[in-house]
Amino acid sequence: MSPLHVTRTLPEDATDAALRADVRHGLTSSPKSLPPKWFYDARGSELFDEITGLPEYYPTRAEREILAGRAGEIAAASGARTLVELGSGSSEKTRYLLDALTGLKAYVPVDVSESALTRAGEALVADRPDLDVHALIADFTAPLALPETPGPRLVAFLGGTIGNLLPAERAAFLSAVRTLLAPGDGLLLGTDLVKDEAVLVRAYDDAAGVTAAFNKNVLAVIDRELGADFDPGAFDHVARWDADREWIEMRLRSRTAQTVKIPALDLAVHFAAGEELRTEVSAKFRRDGVTGELAAAGMELTHWWTDKAGRFALSLSVAR
Ligand code: AVJ
Repeated sequence: MSPLHVTRTLPEDATDAALRADVRHGLTSSPKSLPPKWFYDARGSELFDEITGLPEYYPTRAEREILAGRAGEIAAASGARTLVELGSGSSEKTRYLLDALTGLKAYVPVDVSESALTRAGEALVADRPDLDVHALIADFTAPLALPETPGPRLVAFLGGTIGNLLPAERAAFLSAVRTLLAPGDGLLLGTDLVKDEAVLVRAYDDAAGVTAAFNKNVLAVIDRELGADFDPGAFDHVARWDADREWIEMRLRSRTAQTVKIPALDLAVHFAAGEELRTEVSAKFRRDGVTGELAAAGMELTHWWTDKAGRFALSLSVAR
């Protein structure tokens, strides 16, 4: 059986330093904001898994539908011998690709969560002993060094997570991805699409309140990690469609005037009654926009697949 290699490129204390910097910067800015990556502690990851099964949250099912129906075409078009998956998490949907990529030699899942990587990696190594699985504990928004595995490479970035980056971050991210590719290598990108506002807002403000709990969980993360005294119950969950920028914004709205202490930062943060803290942007895309952003980063979109209802797209592009 081939071994599971695990490489950590993220220093153990990097997360802590980055969280401090992000919280200090975001909560002393006006308007206040926090980057969405801090949602995903163990509880937040559990809540996100729950979100993916909600009736209102269509993206996960739509993307799975595309992968289930098109994995063969994707595999044939890419001919990849190495699959790199950014933000692999549980690697659940990746199974379709792994099964279809018949010439695959190496799988490189990249995630900040060591537990998710080893769990998924061990399961995979058990039933694909032929495959070289090289898990990377890394933050995919930072520069990445990939192991030397056979080309051609296919980098997959699924789930619509690119929408959680702001436009400038997105451009930097795509350029960084391009540096991982040789000419002819591919990028498989999942993007949620612009659609009816009510459908979008419901997907981020579900009836059962799971997304509200997910949103408020970031306050519990800051309480635990930085000793803060946020009361998640003192904030309301808000999901709003920004029609100009074509993105959903999640916010936390302070129910009252309050001051929150963050001892680890030696900081007190005041919220006015009704003041909103932005916790996530989830951009929605159109084909032309995706094509243009990829072209700007040196990649050419060659395939575009959507689910039957046209809600979500997977695009394949090739490095020029
Ligand atoms: C799948 C991580 C991209 O933006 O839809 C789900 C995260 N936020 N509900 C998304 C999320 C609120 C999600 N990503």
